[in-house]
Amino acid sequence: MKQRVWIIGGSSGIGLGLVKLWLLRDCQLVVSSRMALSNTDLLTLRKIYPKSLHLLEFDVSQTEHIENIINEAWSTYGGLDLWFYNAGIYKSMPLNEWNTQNFEQMTQTNYLGAVTLIKHLYPHFKAQKHGQWIFNISLSALIGLPYGAAYSAPKAALLNLAESIQGELQEENIQLQVINHGFVKTRLTDVNDFEMPQLMDVDTAAKKIMSELDKPYRFEITFPFALTFFLKLLRFLPYKLSLAITKKALK
Ligand SMILES: NC(=O)c1ccc[n+]([C@@H]2O[C@H](COP(=O)([O-])OP(=O)(O)OC[C@H]3O[C@@H](n4cnc5c(N)ncnc54)[C@H](OP(=O)(O)O)[C@@H]3O)[C@@H](O)[C@H]2O)c1
Repeated sequence: MKQRVWIIGGSSGIGLGLVKLWLLRDCQLVVSSRMALSNTDLLTLRKIYPKSLHLLEFDVSQTEHIENIINEAWSTYGGLDLWFYNAGIYKSMPLNEWNTQNFEQMTQTNYLGAVTLIKHLYPHFKAQKHGQWIFNISLSALIGLPYGAAYSAPKAALLNLAESIQGELQEENIQLQVINHGFVKTRLTDVNDFEMPQLMDVDTAAKKIMSELDKPYRFEITFPFALTFFLKLLRFLPYKLSLAITKKALK
């Protein structure tokens, strides 16, 4: 049976890269984003794969019609095997440009959207008795870095949430995995004016994610190795040392 996938945030960058790989693997896809129905890349792909690519416009911060959205995503192929939460927005901000609206938007998209979807998707997956959930989080969830709080705090919240529900989900035969990866060259990181260590292109990142998902289950997928090792080390060092190191990123 073909794998049925719903990716939220599949219209550009890493998500679009994954969509192309799943289509090559003959999967059946529902692809959502705020502008899925006017995205030229997705519309071109739909012409090539009319039976395997269903576009479902959905803004995760606007959830008043959530039941209709869930029903459409669930019924398109008669169930879902894999739900991939990839929606994310990013803006860095020094303290003297603090903007609470940015915090609200990033919290909605990077965290609360997933919370709402869990509430509405869980009963379907539970009744189906199997499923796989993937949250694309970020290595930035591991430790707060200068100027990044509005982005990374909701990502850290999503990681904490995933840790807390993983066991309950497993009892229902739903496997939850998180992906904490490093810098990938997309429109999201194009705004950065600093050198991004181990920056990857989208194709490399999407292929890496796919190959990691093919391996036997483990809760966390991380890459690239050196950046992961460095950030995990920072997380476990005493604050006196780790905060002295992260302070060096101040401009
Ligand atoms: N690039 C990196 O270095 C990096 C590193 C670690 C983690 N990540 C994470 O990887 C994921 C993909 O990022 P990317 O770099 O590929 O950025 P991207 O090209 O900007 O992709 C973000 C995707 O999320 C969708 N999206 C944004 N807001 C949404 C909303 N409110 N509702 C529904 N969909 C929404 C976008 O589509 P629309 O604009 O059409 O809504 C787009 O499809 C994000 O979660 C990001 O945090 C990225």
